[in-house]
Amino acid sequence: MNAPVTPESRALLEGKDLTMRFGGLVAMAEVDFSLRKGEVLGIIGPNGAGKSTLLNIITGLYVPSSGEVRLEGELLNGQPAHRIVAKGIARTFQSSRLFADLSVLDNVIIGRHTHMKTGIFEAIFNRRKAEAELDAAAELAEGLLKAVSRELHAQRHRPAGELPQADRRRLEIARALASEPKVLLLDEPSSGMDDSDTDALMDDIRSVCAERPELALMIIEHDMRLIASLPQRVLVLDYGQKLAEGTYEEVRLIPRVQEAYLGRKGAQHAQA
Ligand SMILES: Nc1ncnc2c1ncn2[C@@H]1O[C@H](COP(=O)(O)OP(=O)(O)OP(=O)(O)O)[C@@H](O)[C@H]1O
Ligand SMILES: [Mg+2]
Repeated sequence: MNAPVTPESRALLEGKDLTMRFGGLVAMAEVDFSLRKGEVLGIIGPNGAGKSTLLNIITGLYVPSSGEVRLEGELLNGQPAHRIVAKGIARTFQSSRLFADLSVLDNVIIGRHTHMKTGIFEAIFNRRKAEAELDAAAELAEGLLKAVSRELHAQRHRPAGELPQADRRRLEIARALASEPKVLLLDEPSSGMDDSDTDALMDDIRSVCAERPELALMIIEHDMRLIASLPQRVLVLDYGQKLAEGTYEEVRLIPRVQEAYLGRKGAQHAQA
């Protein structure tokens, strides 16, 4: 707990005393969290616990009622969502937000837009520059697709809406990575997947992390197999409060956690 603060141990992303009220409902109450470079943090908790709310606060979709979020020490709350992406925080959503009619490749290129400098006037009057930038984005998108999943890359010219659910989830991860984030936030990446798709997803996430050792990940998940194997640390939320934090092995043994969550969803795992 009181280990000396070294550049390696200092938080990359940090939340302090985060509270989020919607009228009379307290969706989040005084939650603290921290995430270091290269770390994978799991977030678990029952439905309505405040997991997505936390991601929405971090990414600027919600402005917390109180508390602060800092990336490398810089205060993020109050900044618009697009600026937060540009600073290095990318995410996927619980429900798919792909452009169904656009190709797989174009969906990834769109994830690159925060790095594109060409505005609409330049696109018209300096076409060559705009085209060069688009070509570079397309090349990067191809590379990303290949790295995330070769099968997905093979389908790059198909409309995203035609992909099976598991590939859509992979595509969302590739699109989020196109902004070259320092932090990647995944909201239930395995939802709607069967066990074999979830295994493939875990492999994809592992290879993304292996290629980017500094990338920090926060993963909200209901699938305890994924939570048991990927994150180094797990944060448990319940009714908007932090119930526990530690390794999966530690938190799964805490009776209140078992009652609140594992008791309902992962009792077999907890007992295993
Ligand atoms: N924009 C909003 N307006 C009003 N209430 C909200 C809003 N967003 C979230 N809430 C409420 O805050 C609480 C936490 O919601 P949240 O979506 O963060 O839960 P969650 O842990 O992600 O749940 P799930 O596992 O079902 O996705 C819920 O009671 C929800 O209804
Ligand atoms: Mg949610």
